[in-house]
Amino acid sequence: MSNIEHTLSIIKPDAVERKLENEIKEMFKNTGFNILKEKKIHITKSEAEEFYKVHETKPFYNDLCAYLSSGPIVVMILEHEHAVLRNRDLMGATNPKDAEEGTIRKKYGISIDKNSVHGSDSVENAKIEIDFFFKD
Ligand code: CMP
Repeated sequence: MSNIEHTLSIIKPDAVERKLENEIKEMFKNTGFNILKEKKIHITKSEAEEFYKVHETKPFYNDLCAYLSSGPIVVMILEHEHAVLRNRDLMGATNPKDAEEGTIRKKYGISIDKNSVHGSDSVENAKIEIDFFFKD
């Protein structure tokens, strides 16, 4: 049985602003991901609030939503065997300070907020997050 999955990846405003999107996409491709769809968009704060609704009770929710809507982002559907886990491995720990060598957040992340990339945390959430940006 095939274990091919899809996951949602976001290149966040700090990385787009530093023109890192091609370098980050190369890291995905070199790890064997297919980028099935991608678009560069600039979302509103209320769209960010809807996207990050699972975090609405967290103290960092407001800053997180203000940040994700602060500039252009690149949203992508990534395909790979066990894509959700593989992407989380490639991104590294949420806080770049804790991320391992060779991960995107170790290489490019600035802080826990400006951590350069987002990735779905489960297969179920991947479906929801992909639909959020690519339902047409
Ligand atoms: P991301 O994978 O996009 O999911 C939610 C984001 O909240 C996370 O990356 C971080 O950028 C941000 N964040 C800010 N503070 C925290 C925190 N204390 N714990 C977890 N995530 C945080």
